[in-house]
Amino acid sequence: MAVASQEHYKELHRPQYHYTSKVNWFNDPNGLIFHKGSYHMYYQYNPKGTQWGNMSWGHATSKDLIHWKEHDVAINMTEHMIFSGTTAIDTNNDSGLCNSKDCMIAAYTSFEYELDANNNIQNIAQHQSLAVSHDDGYSFEHYKGNPVLDIRSKEFRDPKIIKHGANWIMLISLADQHQIAFYKSKDLKHWTEVSRFGPLGDTSSVWECPDLFPLKIGDSTKWVLSVSAGHPQGHGFYAMQYFIGAFDGETFIPDPLNYPRYLDFGKDFYAGITFAHTNTEDYVTMMAWLGCHVYTKDTPTTNWRGAMSLPRELRLKYIDDELHLVGNIPNKAMNHLIDQTWNKDDVVVEDQFKIPLNSKAFIAEFEIPKGIVKAGMDVLGNGEHHTKIGYDPHSKSVFIDRSHSGITDFNEAFPSVETAPVHAESDTIRFKIYVDHSVVEVFVNDGETMITDRVFPIDNANEIVLFSEGKATVFKNIAIKTLKSIW
Ligand code: FRU
Repeated sequence: MAVASQEHYKELHRPQYHYTSKVNWFNDPNGLIFHKGSYHMYYQYNPKGTQWGNMSWGHATSKDLIHWKEHDVAINMTEHMIFSGTTAIDTNNDSGLCNSKDCMIAAYTSFEYELDANNNIQNIAQHQSLAVSHDDGYSFEHYKGNPVLDIRSKEFRDPKIIKHGANWIMLISLADQHQIAFYKSKDLKHWTEVSRFGPLGDTSSVWECPDLFPLKIGDSTKWVLSVSAGHPQGHGFYAMQYFIGAFDGETFIPDPLNYPRYLDFGKDFYAGITFAHTNTEDYVTMMAWLGCHVYTKDTPTTNWRGAMSLPRELRLKYIDDELHLVGNIPNKAMNHLIDQTWNKDDVVVEDQFKIPLNSKAFIAEFEIPKGIVKAGMDVLGNGEHHTKIGYDPHSKSVFIDRSHSGITDFNEAFPSVETAPVHAESDTIRFKIYVDHSVVEVFVNDGETMITDRVFPIDNANEIVLFSEGKATVFKNIAIKTLKSIW
């Protein structure tokens, strides 16, 4: 598959400020943790190819969550594949597995399988196992007593462990039952089930990759349980949903809100989990796989296939008297990447207005009135193809339309329009759009609504165009910043 003529990180569609591995397939982020001055990101990685398989934990580190250094595979598969999970620092050597005072422990799903006569993978069981790192997360040894939790289930995966008081808590998805099982332990090796959560919200697909984190809002603390499952467009697509409630160390009780609540309305923001040990009380930092199990396998990339979202800070916010999760990308590290800028207080757009900058890697901000016509921005365009982002007053929704975004015919599920509600009662809609060669992350009204999609434009598609369909729209506070590469 390797294309010798293309230099790594310069290939068509290769994002320039989102993390990608040099070669091969990856999906979910795993074991995100801040430890001794570095952010460690592990991920579901196939060291042998550009399709899902041979799952192991790939590894990259960063000081600022934007510039990443890829390392050797951190956890290699055994006779089992190494599925998603968490890492934690065992500060008091509760596990007895540390050589010194503390060590990093990874909890992951060990996937027991066999190959049938046609070499297809047959699921035998999914159990939870541990690996220990004595070098601060660069290499791991499998625990000899693995698995530490085995209920002979085929749909039991993606452990998240947290320390709560003197106990270790592990959340595991009972995927086909749309439930999260909570287990408790003193030593990370012996686990007792204490409660279950679900089914609730969207149960149109298996539940995967649970996460649980406290967030401060005003004087109170709420717990948020996120799970990768379902999609606002129903069966066959994958998104993330979240629940807000209380957690007493054993049981998660959701507040009586309208569920499902979707974290992002796009098709390519999945399996997101948060960084441990960031010590932030009013927000968490999540990263997610920019992909979809339905069609990512067919996406037209060369010897690499996988991309990670930008670090997304998630906070709680009251909107119309109800709590919601809102997201934003921290500016700090991004500011160093800014190359060219173009700003304008207002532009009256009748039909189209071409921004006098060409780029495939940029941040675009602008405001439009809710108005009476569809308006917004075309990105990654070449006159013929583009990805359309905007607000539609008829459906009162924001959207990404990737049906004419370039190469779309590699899988019939790919060409699509994603729509999402706008909460705010204000008369204007503010867009902040991160475009990166084959990634579009859209934040509306300070991240009250988020939509993320992959797109695969034609080679020369670098035009940025404001549009207003039918009648003129006044665009305000327009700011375009092109970004340099992190590679
Ligand atoms: C989610 C997922 C997880 C599993 C992993 C395997 O994308 O299906 O449930 O652990 O991928 O790669």
